[in-house]
Amino acid sequence: MAEEAILGFLHENHEIADSGKFATQSGISHDDIVNVVKSLSAFHFVEAQDIKRDSLVLTEEGRAYAAAGSPEVQLVNAIPPEGITLKELENKVGSDIFSIGRSYAMKNKWVEMDKSKVVTRKFDTVDDKVKEMLVQIQEGKVTNTEDAAFINLKKRKLVASQIWKGYSVKKGPKYARERRKQATDLTRDNLQRDEWKNLEFKEYNFKAKGFPVEGGHLHPLLKVRKQMQMIFLQMGFEEMPTNNYVESSFWNFDALFQPQQHPARDSHDTFFLKEPSTTKILPEDYVSRVKQVHESGGHGSRGYGYDWKREEANKNLLRTHTTAVSSRMLYSLAQKPFAGQRYYSIDRVFRNEAVDRTHLAEFHQIEGLICDRGLTLGDLQGVLQDFFSRLGMSKLRFKPAYNPYTEPSMEIFGYHEGFKKWVEIGNSGMFRPEMLLPMGLPEDVRVIAWGLSLERPTMILYGIDNIRDLFGHKVDLGLIKSNPICRIGIK
Ligand code: PHE
Repeated sequence: MAEEAILGFLHENHEIADSGKFATQSGISHDDIVNVVKSLSAFHFVEAQDIKRDSLVLTEEGRAYAAAGSPEVQLVNAIPPEGITLKELENKVGSDIFSIGRSYAMKNKWVEMDKSKVVTRKFDTVDDKVKEMLVQIQEGKVTNTEDAAFINLKKRKLVASQIWKGYSVKKGPKYARERRKQATDLTRDNLQRDEWKNLEFKEYNFKAKGFPVEGGHLHPLLKVRKQMQMIFLQMGFEEMPTNNYVESSFWNFDALFQPQQHPARDSHDTFFLKEPSTTKILPEDYVSRVKQVHESGGHGSRGYGYDWKREEANKNLLRTHTTAVSSRMLYSLAQKPFAGQRYYSIDRVFRNEAVDRTHLAEFHQIEGLICDRGLTLGDLQGVLQDFFSRLGMSKLRFKPAYNPYTEPSMEIFGYHEGFKKWVEIGNSGMFRPEMLLPMGLPEDVRVIAWGLSLERPTMILYGIDNIRDLFGHKVDLGLIKSNPICRIGIK
């Protein structure tokens, strides 16, 4: 309506000299006029010039009196013909109206009070000049601000002056009688009805920002895991089933030739299960071969020479490494005619550790193994070289180490091109005959294997120095949403 009125008026007239007056004349609110003028001038339909002038507005108190009458008149009107005590009058009109109204009514000599504090009125009716003037101001009809009555209202803080803002409006270069809506789409209807010829299309805004892409976000650990998986698959490895966090001590330790007194088998290092606390099913003849190799050895080994206890092997725990999965896999492999295999897994393990910047009680392990006839330490080094160079680390060093289940064992160090230093990246070795032969694997079968945590390379790649920022309940979802699409390759 405002748009029609403005464009229509300008069609007949040279200009709208004052948007305020135009608003009053056309019966449209000034705010509406202002909004339309702004939008029309942005599209050059009109040209608008600012107008500013001092204007009068009523204060909150002034507005109240313009509606209900001045306090002095309210007070007088509340006095009955026979008069009223001050107390009663105050109760009748309320204490604010009473105290203000009383002083002005006295000043105007509209009321009288006798010695017994009874108030009577001196006139039957009094004119409310204050209210009249306030209403006039409200309607914008008062222009004489020198008037004594007006100055009085200002003193009483019933009016205040304010800067009024409006416009004078002329036709702009794109003026038209009517602003047509620009089309944002070319529709099937437009084409069928032949309307498209006359449509005005809105221009594309190539600077507008698109909506942020919402949806799922992969956690950095998942991204790195995916990359690791791809490397294993490219190298012809097959994934081992790791869907059992609970494992028996037998598969986690005993099958790996880890003696029952080993400190890792203490509750300080390992979480044991209360319920169910023990396993029920183990392959009995294999168990007896494991018992024998621990107690007295065989296959050229002397064993550990202690009393191997079945109860210890039965204890359930949260697996401390995914090598427990490897031991199950190798055992089942040994139950069939032998064929070489490459296996990998990436899954969660648990250790009873003090939590700090780099350690949590649960983390993920990456594990790889190759079993075949006649493998050597050279094969292990070659495979590790291949594996880690695919991760962007081609300079490797090996340091002799000890694991109960591998001999020889090697810690793996890689040269970090970004940090310009050697960092420990994994552990590896060749599984011992004391582990493989009781399973029933042929004597010439060798198994080379290695393991590393998933968290460590992820932290290096994403520049995260506190593991709690990566994993656990303190992880910031903002980090997950904003982390870059990462390619492994530390350069
Ligand atoms: N299981 C070892 C660990 O937890 C890693 C490893 C796997 C070592 C295979 C040698 C061979 O650190």
